[in-house]
Amino acid sequence: MARPDHATRQAQPSPVDRAGGGQPLVTLENLTFGYPGGETILEDLDLRVRQGEFLALLGPSGCGKTTIMNLVAGFVRPRQGTVVFDGAPLRGINTRVGYMTQGDTLLPWRTVAKNVQLPLEIRATPRARANQLVDSYLGMLHLSDARDRFPSELSGGMKRRALLARSLIYEPAMLLMDEPFAALDAQLREALHRELLSTVAQLRQTVMFVTHDISESILLADRVIVLGTQPAGILAEVVIPFGADRDLAEIRLSNEYLGLERKVRDLLRQ
Ligand SMILES: Nc1ncnc2c1ncn2[C@@H]1O[C@H](COP(=O)(O)OP(=O)(O)O)[C@@H](O)[C@H]1O
Ligand SMILES: [Mg+2]
Repeated sequence: MARPDHATRQAQPSPVDRAGGGQPLVTLENLTFGYPGGETILEDLDLRVRQGEFLALLGPSGCGKTTIMNLVAGFVRPRQGTVVFDGAPLRGINTRVGYMTQGDTLLPWRTVAKNVQLPLEIRATPRARANQLVDSYLGMLHLSDARDRFPSELSGGMKRRALLARSLIYEPAMLLMDEPFAALDAQLREALHRELLSTVAQLRQTVMFVTHDISESILLADRVIVLGTQPAGILAEVVIPFGADRDLAEIRLSNEYLGLERKVRDLLRQ
């Protein structure tokens, strides 16, 4: 299977740094936010995501998780405090993040390959390089055989993988995932968890992943930030010790996992 050339990516952390002392890629500092004319939704939030880390934001519906992602993407601006991305205060839209949600935003009139290629067209990537990247990412997400199919001819899992390929193909410094698997059945979600983890490990991708599902957060992340209700603040930070090449089927049955799940459940109940 072809591997993309990631020489252009940021300095990569070693796997042991995933939850360790890597450089922060994004820092939210003393951040307060409310929508225009509305109440305060986030108050005095301090949050950092390190290079190469898989961070999960876990919290109840409406607590402000999507809003935090939109702040990092530069879609909305804080009332107070700053978003620092890769060492510089963020101004305007953040073009160095990929963003995947639970929505199906594949263009129905384009094939899988043409959908995945779209961000490269927008960025005017030279054709030869674009073709090479499309082949690599379709290969990585096991979509090579489906490259000429249209979205209506894809299963739910294939659609998710195509959306993931499209979010990664322009090599964003950080991947934002907002409940990307929320609408799926449990078995499919499990398969996609494995696929996501292997892709993230191959790319050493920094990820910020939003979910309201406790087990999903523990299974995927290096660190889980538990958010309380509004105005949202951080209730706790839970370090997940399973590492990048974790075996999900195995850890799900471990006492360590069950202990973490109980701990997070208790935190959220407060
Ligand atoms: N565009 C908007 N304008 C006004 N209020 C909003 C907007 N988007 C979200 N909100 C409110 O902000 C709060 C946080 O929303 P959101 O970040 O979507 O939460 P979550 O993703 O954790 O479910 C909610 O009370 C929601 O109703
Ligand atoms: Mg949300």
